[in-house]
Amino acid sequence: MQSEVQSAPIRILHLEDSELDHDIVRQTLRRAGVPCEMQRVETLDDFVRALHASHFDAILADYRLPGFTALDAWRALQDMPQPPPFILLSGAIGETAAVEAIKQGMSDYLLKDDLGKLAHVIERAIEVQQARRERERAAEELAASEQRLARFAEHLQMSIEQERAAIAREIHDDIGGSLAAIQFDLSWIGRHHADADTQAHVQAATTMLQHAVGASQRIMMNLRPAILDQGLAAAIEWLASEFERRTGIRTRVRTAVRQPGVDKAVQLTAYRTAQEALTNISKHAGCSEVRIELSDAERVLTLEITDNGRGIMAPDRNKPKSFGLKGLQERARTVGGWLDISSRAGQGTSITLSIPLTTETKGETT
Ligand SMILES: Nc1ncnc2c1ncn2[C@@H]1O[C@H](COP(=O)(O)OP(=O)(O)O)[C@@H](O)[C@H]1O
Ligand SMILES: [Mg+2]
Repeated sequence: MQSEVQSAPIRILHLEDSELDHDIVRQTLRRAGVPCEMQRVETLDDFVRALHASHFDAILADYRLPGFTALDAWRALQDMPQPPPFILLSGAIGETAAVEAIKQGMSDYLLKDDLGKLAHVIERAIEVQQARRERERAAEELAASEQRLARFAEHLQMSIEQERAAIAREIHDDIGGSLAAIQFDLSWIGRHHADADTQAHVQAATTMLQHAVGASQRIMMNLRPAILDQGLAAAIEWLASEFERRTGIRTRVRTAVRQPGVDKAVQLTAYRTAQEALTNISKHAGCSEVRIELSDAERVLTLEITDNGRGIMAPDRNKPKSFGLKGLQERARTVGGWLDISSRAGQGTSITLSIPLTTETKGETT
C-alpha cells in the first residue's frame, strides 16, 4: 500500500446489516495492518446521510439488505459528484447479479468467504479511483489551458487589428494632412516663381510628394483595408490585382459571394488570410500562376489560394520562427473556422480557409 494511504487511516463506509460480519471485516483489516476508520450503516437512508455528512475513501456493501439491495445503494451514489469506489462484499449472489454489478460500474466484487483478499481489493479500488481522478483533472486542466490560449489568441488578434486601425488613422490625419499642406505650398511656389530653376525644383518636389502620398496610402491600406467597406469580393480582387502588378505573377480570381453583410470579423479574417498567403507566395513559392477562389456556397465561406510553385516541404511547416501559417490557423479558429494546407513538392500549394456562416457574430474588429 502507498505510504500516503498508510499514513492517514482509510475511511470506509460499510453497508451491512450484520453486526457480526462487520466485526469480522474490521478485524480482518486490522490483522492485515490496514489503518482504517469504519462506519456501519444498514438502511438506505442512513447510507445516503452518511455519504453527505462526511468523506469516505471506499464503500463496502453487502448485496442483500432488509428491503433493498446494493444496486439501490449504487444508484443513490450516482447523484454524488465524486463518489468513492464501491466494493460489493457479500455472500454468494449468483453469477448474473455479480456480472450486472460490475457492468454497472462497481469497482469490485468479493465473497465474504474470501476476506483474505479484502485489503488488496480495497487498496486497488482506491488506486484505480485516484488514477481516474488524476486523469480527469489533467484533461480538465488541458481543456482549460487550451481555452485560455484560444481566448488569448483572439484577444491578440483583436488588439493587433485595433492597433493597426489606430496607426492608419494617425497616418491619415497627421501625415496625410501635412502632405496635403505641402502640396498646397508647392503649388503656390510654382505659381509665384516662374524662373526655370525654381520650376525644376518644384517639379522634383511634387514628384517626390506624389510618391510619399502613394506610399502612405499603400501603408494605410495594409494596416486597415478600407477596401473591405466595398465587400470582401472587391477587397480580394483588389489584393490580387495589386499582387499581380507588383510581382508580375499571373493571378486569377473567381468570386461567388451571394450573401450580403458577412460579419466584419469573418471578412477581416478572410482578407488577412489572402494577404498572408499572397505574401508567402511572393516570398517562397517561385511560381508562375496563382488562383484565388472565394465562395459562400452552402453557408460556408470558402477562400482558396492556390499556386503552382515549389510546394511547402514538411519541415517548413514547423519552422520555429515562422508564425504566418500558424497565426492564420489560430485566427480561423477565433471565428469558428479552420485552415487546410495542402501541398506536394514541386506541384504547388493550396491554402483553404473555411468559415461556417452560421457562427455567432463576433462584432467589428476594426
Ligand atoms: N506558397 C508557398 N510555397 C512554398 N513554400 C511556402 C509557401 N507558403 C509557406 N511556405 C513555407 O512555409 C514556411 C512557413 O510559412 P509562414 O508560417 O508563413 O512563415 P514565414 O513566411 O514567416 O516564413 C515558409 O518559411 C516557407 O518555407
Ligand atoms: Mg509568411
